[in-house]
Parts: sequence; C-alpha cells; structure tokens
Amino acid sequence: MSTKKFAAVAAGLTLAMGLAACGGEGAGSDPDTDGGSEGGEAVEGGTIGVSMPTQTSERWIADGNAVQAGLEGAGYDVDLQFANDDIPTQSQQIDQMITQGVDLLIVAAIDGTALTGQLDAAATAGIPVIAYDRLINDSENVDFYVTFDNFEVGVQQATSMLVGLGVLNEDGSEGDAEGPFNVELFAGSPDDNNATFFWDGAMSVLEPYMEDGTLEVPSGQTDFEQAAILRWQQETAQRRMEDLLTSAYSGGDTELHGVLSPYDGLSRGIITALQGTGGYPATIEEGLPVVTGQDAEIASVKLIADGTQFATIFKDTRKLADQAVISAESFLAGDEPEANDTESYDNGVKIVPSYLLESDIVYESNIQELLVDSGYWTEEQVESGQA
Ligand code: BGC
Repeated sequence: MSTKKFAAVAAGLTLAMGLAACGGEGAGSDPDTDGGSEGGEAVEGGTIGVSMPTQTSERWIADGNAVQAGLEGAGYDVDLQFANDDIPTQSQQIDQMITQGVDLLIVAAIDGTALTGQLDAAATAGIPVIAYDRLINDSENVDFYVTFDNFEVGVQQATSMLVGLGVLNEDGSEGDAEGPFNVELFAGSPDDNNATFFWDGAMSVLEPYMEDGTLEVPSGQTDFEQAAILRWQQETAQRRMEDLLTSAYSGGDTELHGVLSPYDGLSRGIITALQGTGGYPATIEEGLPVVTGQDAEIASVKLIADGTQFATIFKDTRKLADQAVISAESFLAGDEPEANDTESYDNGVKIVPSYLLESDIVYESNIQELLVDSGYWTEEQVESGQA
C-alpha cells in the first residue's frame, strides 16, 4: 500500500472544498482550525478508513458524515463504518480496513483499550492512526488525537448545574442561592477515556461546594465507579436514577435539586425517571430538578427551550471533523499535523500529540446565538426537537 502524491490541487482549495462539503455557515469558519497542509502537496486517490462507535447517538452520525464529506471534498475515498457500540464489530471493521489497504485510519473508539491489536497491525502496514474525539489507550501506535478540551467540558457541566441552582450566575459571578442543595452525580462509560476527564473536570468545580455543605449527595454515591453508566446507555441512566429516587428520596422529605449528567442521552433518561418515579413536574420553573448534559442533541435542545433540561454543552462537531481532515491531509503529505497540546493526553504508553477544540455551555438564553445563528440547528428543528 503506497501513498501517491501529486501537486495539482492547491491545499487551500482542497481545504475550502472540504469545509464547504461539511455544510453550515459555522463549519470550520474558525481561523484557528486553518493550517495543516497549507502550501504542501495534496494526495490523490487515497482511501481513508473512518470508524465511528454507534449510530444510536446523533452526534456520531453527524461526525461520520462531516468527516466523510470533508475527506471526499479533499479528494479521498472514504470507508465509513459504524460499530453499533459493539467492540468485536469495531475491531473487525478496522481489521478489514487494514486488510483492504487504507492509507490512514480515523477512529472514535468504543472501548479505548480494546484496539491495541488493530493499531499494531496498522503500524506494521505503515498506516497512520488519528484518534477521533476519544483517545485510544495502551498503544504507541496512536499518531495524533483530535478532540475537545474534555476536562473543560466537565468544568462547564458542573458550572451549568451551579448556575441552574442559583449558586453561580451565567457570567460566572456568585449567585444569591446558598443551599444546601441535594444533587446526584452521573458519569459516562468507564471504558471511554473521556468519561474520567469529564468527571475530573466536574469534580474540580463541585468538590469545594460539597465540602462546605452547599451541595449534598443524599445517596452518598460520589465515586466515579458508582456514577458511571456503561456505554452511555440512556436506559441504564434512567434505571439508576429510579433506584436513587427509591432508595434516597422516597418518604417525601428529601427533595432533589440537581443532577450532573455528562451526556444528553443520559439526561433524557434521568428526566424520564424524575417525572415518572420521582413524581416531579414537567419544568424546572415548577420544581423539576436541574439536569445538565452534553452534545446539544436536538431532542435535548428542545427540552432546554421548553424549560425541562437546564443546559447542555455544545461541541461543534463540524470543527472537529475539519480538524480531522486537516490532520489527515498533513500525514498524507508526509508532514506532522499541528498540535496545540502535547501534555494532557497520556495513553499509558506515550503522550499523544493533540489538537483540542473549545466547547460552550448552552442555556435557554443562548440557543439562538450558539446553535441557530451558527447554522448547527435551524429554528424549526429546535421547535420540533427533530433533526
Ligand atoms: C463524547 C461525548 C459523547 C459521549 C457519548 C464521548 O466520548 O466525547 O461527546 O456525549 O461520548 O457518546
């Protein structure tokens, strides 16, 4: 398998085509994401394997489509596969991509420690590997990592819960509320490296408030292992919330005020449990606990607009896809992609050079500005809750 190069297409044009193919005004308009193979050679006719974890969450479908469109716009063939959140399926799909001789792999892992064999085979075949959004652990053969600042995402999730409780204001200043508030904590999938980053970021904000009594966790479940939801499953989160309501809140004298949730799918499961088993009302104004989220999934954006979910974190997947395309182009032009972080992501074997993007907290007050004006969702989609 060889990487053919040609110099016919200016890299800037290639990039512009890739960005245009991603659609949406906001896509890749950030000047920080420009660069990569600028001035270098483009590669013709290469095939890139793109392995995404699942189609059950709309963000991964959007990621897959945006990466595919960007790469195709830049002149590559793309083998895009989704693995149904099943580890053997993802391993087989990547094995097959390697056998078929792809020129580069872009992988969002289901289990960050399960792909060592595939990465060894890729390295032997000279195929560069870019970890997409989720770090791949225990392997020296991860060449680059494109993601968001995952610790900061956790900080934002915890901050948004405190804003919902009135302990902080949206501008970060201290709010009027003093508590004590009863909260429960949820974490992501323990095999996803991001889950601990989100948790650590959130706890860095919440711990001082737990220590001074502003926040209490009536269930006592304050360890990551207790809070983690395997494979980010909505039903599992709903069940855990129902169990917590039954064990720590029945009897009627303990009221729940807030729930830290690291992903919109979990948030919707939690809200279902709160309104069902918990008997809480439909909106926060009427007494529904404040629930956080992540990904700005359209169903949750509608819930935020309706005053049911309090907040989410917007990670512009168009920008992440653009960054993956730029990094792939660099590798295929024989260069190293430009990293903006070479310290944070130790995968157990090495520190993986990374490109981190920024995220934003979405409240009801800034849905228009962050999501509609940027072209991520239309007003109609926000109103209907459907993509
Ligand atoms: C991603 C999140 C997503 C979660 C569940 C994480 O690795 O970073 O954006 O909410 O997986 O799919």
